[in-house]
Amino acid sequence: MSAHGEVKLGGTAGIDRAAPDRDLLICRCEEIALGEIIDAIDAGITTPDGLKRRLRIGMGLCQGRTCRRLLQQVLAEHAGVSPADVRPATFRPPVRPVKISVLLDERQRPASRE
Ligand code: FES
Repeated sequence: MSAHGEVKLGGTAGIDRAAPDRDLLICRCEEIALGEIIDAIDAGITTPDGLKRRLRIGMGLCQGRTCRRLLQQVLAEHAGVSPADVRPATFRPPVRPVKISVLLDERQRPASRE
């Protein structure tokens, strides 16, 4: 990984499939290594959503906050395009329960019971 947080996957001509980086963890939450992603790409799954369904990448505790950009880099390098040209996977932010009273406008809140 570079000082700027970019993963160096191989040469500019594509993913170096013989690289020892196959063990590099891309998704820490689901423990998905680069090698598993490369194998799935070789099997024909080349979209972030497809990889998400196949490997569960991005479905861990952080909901892809950590691995989403890394996956984009892997797919971009595989396709020989810029990471900005890779359509990101759909994702949902982590969910927290919220009381209805928090969502209500001040005027709509029930009077306190004091
Ligand atoms: S690192 Fe992939 S879901 Fe958290």
